[in-house]
Amino acid sequence: MSNSYKTLVEFLKIKSVSTQSDYLPEMKRAREFITDKLKTMSFKTRILKAKSHDAVFGQLITDPSAPTILIYGHYDVQPAEPLTEWKTEPFIPTIIKRKIYARGATDNKGQITIHIEAVKKFLEQKKRPNINFKFIIEGEEELGSPGIVNLANKYAKTLFKCDYLIVSDSEMPKKGNPAIDISLRGIIYTQIDLEVGKHDLHSGQFGGVSPNPANVLAQIIAELKFADGHINIPGYYKDVVSPTKEELKYFKKLKTKASTITEEGEFYVIGGGEEKYSLNERRWSRPTLDVNGIWGGYQGDGEKTIIPARAGAKISMRLVANQNPEKILKNYDDFVKSMIPKGVKIKITHYISGRAYKSSTDHKIFKLIEKALKHGFGKEPVFSGVGGSIGFVPIVAEKLEVPVLMVGFGLPTENLHAPNENFDLDNFDNGIKTILYFLNNLK
Ligand code: BES
Ligand code: MN
Repeated sequence: MSNSYKTLVEFLKIKSVSTQSDYLPEMKRAREFITDKLKTMSFKTRILKAKSHDAVFGQLITDPSAPTILIYGHYDVQPAEPLTEWKTEPFIPTIIKRKIYARGATDNKGQITIHIEAVKKFLEQKKRPNINFKFIIEGEEELGSPGIVNLANKYAKTLFKCDYLIVSDSEMPKKGNPAIDISLRGIIYTQIDLEVGKHDLHSGQFGGVSPNPANVLAQIIAELKFADGHINIPGYYKDVVSPTKEELKYFKKLKTKASTITEEGEFYVIGGGEEKYSLNERRWSRPTLDVNGIWGGYQGDGEKTIIPARAGAKISMRLVANQNPEKILKNYDDFVKSMIPKGVKIKITHYISGRAYKSSTDHKIFKLIEKALKHGFGKEPVFSGVGGSIGFVPIVAEKLEVPVLMVGFGLPTENLHAPNENFDLDNFDNGIKTILYFLNNLK
């Protein structure tokens, strides 16, 4: 096994789940693992205080007049549950047919290891251009990066100062088709809790005189988003900017088929969005609203005639360029509250919120990353959007005002956040080849 694979395997053994407090010692182990690794490459490292889990920062400045690259990644992973659906152990990395299976394989340990290994190989060469390197590897990405705003404010002009920011925490459309990702969606995540009384009621005794929180919740949800995909929160679309002609051209060029998307996600049929838009617009440049979880009342076998005392739901929205999360949250709260019958108790909780990001591809550095991807993968890269969110990117990009290269080395079939997460080892090797070429040709 190559040393690069060994590094990845060791990294993947660490159970760095950021959302469950049982794993705190493993989060620390992950920070130590990265710190040790960077130290063996002669980097100066430090731990940066975040909110729940600190970030690791490392730098190697060889020539202050040379270009400086800031490389971002995250060491935290999603919980592995449901464990019964895994074919291998989530924290015993297992290679099957050139894919490595483990929680965090593609999101994001495999992708950040590409950069670490490429920089390591770069530094081992005798002749090489002068480049200064900085790594920022955080542990709160899967929590919406709550500590990053403070870090960005504190370190924009010092530790984070750079000429280019590189982020590999996304994907390419399919194997053999490398991509430069040019947009990310933002996110808002909320919870609604409703309560109509102290305990469940007999639905015969009280049906007709007690409000039912599950019915109220269903009505609210139906008003939030219509069957045609239109989101009904006042002002929701007001600030949405349409994709540029260039973006639309890129999206079209991908010739994405409905069957490809349903096969990738192993779901039955395209739906839940606005039919008048193309599939790629619907997943990359249109905002969404989705119920992520819903509860209330009797869930067991057979019947139980009650009016539940409580009901609730977790509701998220994916935002697109120019939408303002704070403004939307305010309108959402007001709209939801306006639909609550008098006397019904409601609590709305706000979790994550983050803006969308769109990169401008004008800078000449994009030509170099295109060439590097062609060198690494043997094929011209495409430009693609990303439907997911990466909290760090919009915050830091706005502060630093530098080009952001989002080079996705993952695949849509790699089960991120799901059982049997995996990462393609050919993409791992080609990714290292790409980044090494990029570095060797950076002036
Ligand atoms: N790597 C993903 C972002 C991503 C998702 C890229 C899908 C390409 C395709 C990232 O780790 C992630 O999962 N982000 C979360 C952020 C949230 C918790 C704030 C997301 O998008 O849900
Ligand atoms: Mn993720």
